[in-house]
Amino acid sequence: MANVLLGATGSVAAVRVPVLAAALAADGHAVRVVATDAAAYFFDPADPALAGRLYRDADEWPGERYERGDTVVHVELRKWADLFLLAPLDANTLAKLAVGLCDNCLTCVWRAWDFARPVVLAPAMNTLMWEHPFTRRHLRSLAADFGAGHIPGHLDDLPLIAQINDRSPTLRVVAPVTKQLACGDVGVGAMAEVPDVVAAVRDAFARRAA
Ligand SMILES: Cc1cc2nc3c(=O)[nH]c(=O)nc-3n(C[C@H](O)[C@H](O)[C@H](O)COP(=O)(O)O)c2cc1C
Repeated sequence: MANVLLGATGSVAAVRVPVLAAALAADGHAVRVVATDAAAYFFDPADPALAGRLYRDADEWPGERYERGDTVVHVELRKWADLFLLAPLDANTLAKLAVGLCDNCLTCVWRAWDFARPVVLAPAMNTLMWEHPFTRRHLRSLAADFGAGHIPGHLDDLPLIAQINDRSPTLRVVAPVTKQLACGDVGVGAMAEVPDVVAAVRDAFARRAA
């Protein structure tokens, strides 16, 4: 059994966090969830699928003065996790990951991450955000950090993701899909289906073992 840390950010696709956590557990993983405050707007933190598994910024900053020896939640989560799955990954947190900003528990885990451990990203955003040049710039930057080397050319999103998945030993991106988005627009940007995200996690572990 491997330890999967599910990081959830403020996309409307975060409505599926409880279902995704349950699906990962059903696939044999120990699961913990770290959610941004924006992510928690979209699901019920009291959902039974999240019982005893959910970590939020309020757990990192409980409001009492820090005492030497208190748990530092992001460090504990980082040590615990064998794999970090960010699903849904919104545009804001993608940008933070690319430049190393760490202003919440989730991004502090990321900032302390061990590049030898696998990461799976499942972006979810409006089509206009997904197609913005920042998105490819940020994905390219992460690919370089995760050992994919420089990916040449001005690749479109899907060929770029294929190159990242092919060349990086530890970073895997689950391409978003095309459908009617929550805002009513029809286009690419919706998070991949839950079984496809779970399959990507399985593949990431299999690649590490190979
Ligand atoms: C109803 C609603 C839906 C949103 N959906 C998305 C989304 O699918 N993808 C995205 O990148 N941002 C989305 N946003 C914007 C993010 O929630 C916003 O950028 C937020 O600051 C993200 O914070 P976080 O990255 O710390 O979770 C949405 C905002 C609202 C109000």
